[in-house]
Amino acid sequence: FAAVDVIAAKRDRNRLSDAQIDWVVDAYTRGVVADEQMSALLMAILLNGMQPEEISRWTAAMIASGERLDFGGLSRPTTDKHSTGGVGDKITLPLTPLVAALGAAVPQLSGRGLGHTGGTLDKLESIPGWRARLSNAEMARQLEDVGGVICAAGEGLAPADRKMYALRDVTGTVEAVPLIASSIMSKKIAEGTGALVLDVKVGSGAFMKSEEQARVLAQTMVRLGTDAGVNTVALLTDMSTPLGLTAGNALEVRESLEVLAGGGPPDVVELTIALAREMLETAGISADPEAALKDGRAMDSWKKMIAAQGGDPDAPLPVAQHTHQVLAPADGVLVSLDAMAVGVSAWRLGAGRSRKEDPVQAGAGVEMHAKPGAEVSAGQPLFTLHTDTPERFEQAVEALEGGYVIAPVGSRPEPRPLIIDRITA
Ligand code: URA
Repeated sequence: FAAVDVIAAKRDRNRLSDAQIDWVVDAYTRGVVADEQMSALLMAILLNGMQPEEISRWTAAMIASGERLDFGGLSRPTTDKHSTGGVGDKITLPLTPLVAALGAAVPQLSGRGLGHTGGTLDKLESIPGWRARLSNAEMARQLEDVGGVICAAGEGLAPADRKMYALRDVTGTVEAVPLIASSIMSKKIAEGTGALVLDVKVGSGAFMKSEEQARVLAQTMVRLGTDAGVNTVALLTDMSTPLGLTAGNALEVRESLEVLAGGGPPDVVELTIALAREMLETAGISADPEAALKDGRAMDSWKKMIAAQGGDPDAPLPVAQHTHQVLAPADGVLVSLDAMAVGVSAWRLGAGRSRKEDPVQAGAGVEMHAKPGAEVSAGQPLFTLHTDTPERFEQAVEALEGGYVIAPVGSRPEPRPLIIDRITA
């Protein structure tokens, strides 16, 4: 094959053959196909799309670029969750120990934040001593002993995706259903989970802004998982407003601890329980997740999981050196609070990074004192901003401007269910 012929085929809206797909993914991973050629092919895929059979083959080629883990020898059934990413989405933190406490093994390979969305590993790294890197053997041992593992994906897992994702990030080719679906599902299938629950986000803070796009992405991923023998379901969930009352690393750990202690914001609790029910069902376990949050079993499981990776679950969490409050300008009802605005504000405060290699601040982020539907009075705090670099307050406040609406007393926000739909094979 010649890369230019594969690019021209997709440019001219042709279906790529299995042999072309296998060759181009493998050759790119080995460095035989150049970045500029893969960039052109990815853009042609973004513009012209792929047939379901092409997406399946592309995903299989990405899996074949690396190793495939196998946890079939564990005494517990495996099940995992993946969110397509949002603002304040800390659900993995309470959910993993909760489902593990009820008898499942959760091999949660997670990522770091980029742009306005936070990353699970960045959040957990705010816990003193906790380490994200485990060997495959350590991961298997912890899955058997504790049940939950949240760690970084090893270098050997879907290396084609690692290389391609970095290229997509700088070539405007992230937002394509075939590319997002194959990227996510190649990693989840290669990680060896027997079942998978997808949380596909819809709204301003998500990759997919419309319900229609999110639905197509969910259906595509559910089909890829099912075809690969992974018991897969998806929930479509709202990401027009942040989840919970915090966006930031240590701030989100603190809120997750409230949920594990049986409290926490209602939306975070609702989604944690809904996803736990789905995970338990896919794993064939019948148990009540709500009870396990209330009676301390989920918290015990969290402490074991954190300690197993070197973290001190009882150590104080880092706090930012400086805070700044944003006050309500008038009496009324908060009728909207935009996820993207809060995400960008937290990012500018230092909770996120703008280049892969940037460090993040553990204590930085946005604390929200009101969510849509709340009555507010002039002068009350709406947000507390946290950072170690106070020169960033101005930019962070600017990001929030226009991101919330206070309407006259008696107004109501547009009703929006948190869980929009459930998609099965
Ligand atoms: N997350 C991924 O892992 N890949 C994508 O392409 C988008 C989100």
